[in-house]
Parts: sequence; structure tokens; C-alpha cells
Amino acid sequence: MENLDWKNLPFGYMKTDYNIRCYYRDGKWGDLEVSQSDHIDIHIAATGLHYGQEAFEGLKAYMGKDGKVRLFRWEENAARFAYSADGIMMARFPVGKFREAVTRVVQLNRRFIPPYGSGASLYIRPLLYGSGAEVGVKPASEYTFIVFVTPVGPYFKGGIKPVDMLICRNFDRAAPKGTGIYKVGGNYAASLRAGMEAKHGGYASTIFLDAKRKKYIDECGPANFFGIKDNTYITPKSESILRSITNMSLIDVAGSLGIKTERRRVPVEELSEFSEAGACGTAAVISPIARIVDPDRNKVYKYCKDGKPGPVTMKLYNKLVGIQYGDVEDEFGWITIVE
Ligand SMILES: Cc1ncc(COP(=O)(O)O)c(C=O)c1O
Repeated sequence: MENLDWKNLPFGYMKTDYNIRCYYRDGKWGDLEVSQSDHIDIHIAATGLHYGQEAFEGLKAYMGKDGKVRLFRWEENAARFAYSADGIMMARFPVGKFREAVTRVVQLNRRFIPPYGSGASLYIRPLLYGSGAEVGVKPASEYTFIVFVTPVGPYFKGGIKPVDMLICRNFDRAAPKGTGIYKVGGNYAASLRAGMEAKHGGYASTIFLDAKRKKYIDECGPANFFGIKDNTYITPKSESILRSITNMSLIDVAGSLGIKTERRRVPVEELSEFSEAGACGTAAVISPIARIVDPDRNKVYKYCKDGKPGPVTMKLYNKLVGIQYGDVEDEFGWITIVE
């Protein structure tokens, strides 16, 4: 794809050559099927449409300087995908098939993998939904798996730039003991209104607090939160947030750089003690936070001097991104090369 403006691609959908599908019927998964269509034929009574039986994943393939294509921690996405399926009573998609499907969809769409140095990558979106017909509220007996890819530009077009976040007390994304720990569509529907309000106010995202007591930080829209204080990386422990693979990786990267780590409840008041803060997830790896505004408490927490991300944030970011693109040795065994 010589004439694509890779650097300026949005985080949006672009049709690629192929996607892969697989169907669960009569209690078992069939063979992977390759499709050129980006549409599906779906039963009008499919549980995925009515009762939200739908889960998805998001991971990326990166082109290295050496021309090798790297997948980052696909095993973790496969495991989380199975966990999400269990959480809303869908048939699990087997890990072996997940690997095969992800590898093949990348191979088949090789011409859409952005070149090294563009900061862009190939976003991989596996999804699973109840495709069997039911009218009563119960799990379907048939499921459909699809994986498609789309090239996405660098999250920050003009280089990494700190963003502002809004603390949200009017909306909850997920309840404790609810489905917040699963990557299921319903959580995202529940977060849309809050997210849009934040965007209209000029914020990158909402920071959700724990739904029960509104006392602790949960997460930042579609990303986990971390704060830095006393050379320590601190990230919330909560039963209603998604276990971010980027966050898990940053914890290990921090350890390797001599930065201490804590995963524990983070009370809102502690925001005043952090020297740096950020949101982490596959899309941006890290979005450094410039300011967190808490309108209900009339508070503004500031984390950036001269509009620049802090030094600990940048150390973590550079090492993790370096591993993903193959510029830094993969000491953790996180990379799978797609031949
Ligand atoms: C709600 C939510 N939290 C956190 C994350 C970050 O997870 P990961 O690092 O696995 O992409 C995501 C997705 O990217 C998300 O949707």
C-alpha cells in the first residue's frame, strides 16, 4: 500500500483484503474460514443483538526495522477473550485457534501493515458473539468468531502529548461483581455517555470511580490508570476494571528499570500526591496525563511541567514501545514473529 499516509491514519476502520470467521454449532467449533466481505448475515433473534452476548479483543502487529512482523503478547489476549466468554456464558474460542486465526489474518493482509518508523501499526480485532436465536433471556447455543484487521496511525500524531481527564461521578461504567472485568460490548455502551460528555468538555476521557463508594480510582475510559510517586508505579486494584495487558507489561518493565510497583486501591485524594500520571492501553501504550479535573470537588491535579510527560512515564513508554517494534531486546518473551 505505497500511497497510504500511514502517519496520519486515524484510529478508525479501513477495509482490508480478508477477515477470518469460525462458527460454533452442535457443541463444537468448525474450521477457520477466510472471507473477503466485511459484512455478516445475522439471525434477527441472535443473542448478540438482544442480550449483549458479545466480547472482543484488541491487539496489534508491528513492523520492525528488520522487516519482521511482531505480535505483542497475543496469548494474554487469547486468555482474556476466553475469560470474557466465560463471564457472559458464551462458548470459549480455543487458544490454538485464536493463534492460528490472528496469524493468518495478519499474513493475508500483509500489505496493510504500516512500515517501520511511521508510528502506525496493524490493529487486530477479534470478536465473538451469540449468533444462535433465542427469545428468552438465556445463552445462545451457536456462536460466531470473527477477526479482522485495520491499519491505525500513531495515537499521538505530532509526538506524545499529555492529555486532560475528567473525574466522573454522574455515571458508572461497571458495578463491582458486574461485568467490568470482562471485555464485553455492554461495558462500552455503558461508558459512551460519560465519554462523550468528557470529549465535549475538551477532555481526552473520563476517569471512572468505583461505583459503590465513589472513593477509589477505577479506570480511564478504555484504559487503565497509573500514578507515579517516590519512584513507584501505582495502579488501581478493582473488581470492576479490565485487566489491561499494557498495564501488566508496564509493571514488569518498571521492575526491570528499578522502579517499584504497587497494585492496590487508589483513593481519589491520593491524586494530589503523584508527580506523574497516565492512562495505559493498547491504543496509545501510554497517554500521559497533564491535568485531572474534579469539578464536584473543585479540584485540579497537575502532572506536567512545560506540557511535557514526566521522566518515569517516558522511560516506561520508550522501553515498552521499543520491545513492540523490536528496537529493544525482548527480555520477557512477549513477542511472536509472524512469518
Ligand atoms: C476498559 C478498558 N480498560 C483498559 C484497557 C487497556 O487494556 P489493554 O492494555 O489490554 O489494551 C482497555 C482496552 O484497550 C479497555 O477497553
